[in-house]
Amino acid sequence: MTLTDNTIKTLGVLCSGGDSPGMNAAVRSVVRSAIGLDIDVYGIYRGYSGLLEGNIQKLGLPSVSNIIQRGGTILDTSRCLEFHKPEIRQEAAHILFRKNIEGLIVIGGNGSFSGAMELHREHGIPVIGIPGTIDNDISGTDYTIGFNTAVQTAIDAVDKIRDTASAHARTFLVEVMGHKSSSIALQVGLCTGAEYVVLSNQEVDYQAIVNTVQKGKARGKTSSIIIVAEGEKAGVSYQIKDVLMEQYGMCVQVCVLGHIQRGGSPTALDRLMASEMGYSAVHALYQGQQAHVTAFNKGALEMVPLTCCLERKDEASGLSLDLINALAI
Ligand code: F6P
Repeated sequence: MTLTDNTIKTLGVLCSGGDSPGMNAAVRSVVRSAIGLDIDVYGIYRGYSGLLEGNIQKLGLPSVSNIIQRGGTILDTSRCLEFHKPEIRQEAAHILFRKNIEGLIVIGGNGSFSGAMELHREHGIPVIGIPGTIDNDISGTDYTIGFNTAVQTAIDAVDKIRDTASAHARTFLVEVMGHKSSSIALQVGLCTGAEYVVLSNQEVDYQAIVNTVQKGKARGKTSSIIIVAEGEKAGVSYQIKDVLMEQYGMCVQVCVLGHIQRGGSPTALDRLMASEMGYSAVHALYQGQQAHVTAFNKGALEMVPLTCCLERKDEASGLSLDLINALAI
């Protein structure tokens, strides 16, 4: 692509929605790639809420030193519900214009991308999305930064729970995050040798849980682990526990892993993805691309139109229950 005088000289970067491990690696990559192209970078703190407050600071090379290994996000984040209103987005656009910020990189999930899409549609601001959420649930991309770290954190936790479950011959329901997506639950289920996985988009089959646990016990298993995808609302495992007790006389323990899955040092995969996506996002803006996402599909990075990445997908990353069930006998 030929570069013209229209090439951007400044860009803003923000994180939005739930934080995910690797967001810092992405911010670092954005800042270093931009400075390498003589583009000034502005960090917008606390997502769209911070943008509206004008919480914006220029980022130099030292500001992103020593962060590639850190969880959370140095830019902080927020869920900004008022950004659904056009008049609020207009305010945000004016703030960007006043600060001379010519392009925006948004690191977040499909909701954050919807805000970015509207900013582009309504005010012509060039925007590039970097998929960042532990849920791996954004349409148009096979991978989102933070997913692998969250899965690994949950695996480590379940391995520990297995020790005590085995020592006491207990059955545990371990609830993992992912909102309406079962991606984390499926990978964790497979990698921990779970006896059963409860998906978020299916009715709970209580009889199947009971049968699986009983079958295991009959052939000498000393513990059972049931991974539960949290679904719409965290804590669903407590309801499942009550039904199992009241209707099937089965006693289970519950462990909701919760926000521990969002923290911690990113894995190699998340650092790699974040570094590559940050670099690609900056170069896409520099080359005049607008309203695209740095997606990862079929094993390769590609720029995908933002319009393809506005939905939440609830099917889970290629893994099926069949494999888990086949290995859990
Ligand atoms: O960021 C994604 C996620 O962790 C989901 O897995 C979870 O359902 C939700 O965020 C929790 O959000 P909050 O931290 O706002 O309670």
